[in-house]
Amino acid sequence: MDDYDPKIIAFCCNWCSYAAADLAGTSRIQYPSNVRVIRVMCSGRVDSIFVLESFKKGADGILVAGCHPRGCYYLTGNEKAEYRMEFLREIMPQIGLNPRRLRLEWIAGSEPDKFARVCREMVEDLKRLGPTPLKGGIE
Ligand code: FES
Repeated sequence: MDDYDPKIIAFCCNWCSYAAADLAGTSRIQYPSNVRVIRVMCSGRVDSIFVLESFKKGADGILVAGCHPRGCYYLTGNEKAEYRMEFLREIMPQIGLNPRRLRLEWIAGSEPDKFARVCREMVEDLKRLGPTPLKGGIE
């Protein structure tokens, strides 16, 4: 288990969280290389299917990151994201996944440190949980 390196998909909204991830990179703030960032225009664009498909393809953890409440550029996109992620966390045990594998965070463009911290915390938490039970994917 020591050599287990969790794979994390991070869906980041273009206007805040992606900017934070970008700033972390340009500011040389270290965050784990386990994280693959996918830019979406808004966290509200992250459909439940994106999350389930990522787990199905073997992601150990998923981060959905968007603008802070009342900061969404599309007004209520982050509220929709919150609703969807809560629903997903409720059904995850039914497909054998611990809800801790899915994390939702509000990260402003000016918070590269928070982005890096959340990524580090997720890696540590996923190492405690171990590899996804869907390892190798499902059909
Ligand atoms: Fe960032 Fe909607 S634009 S969460």
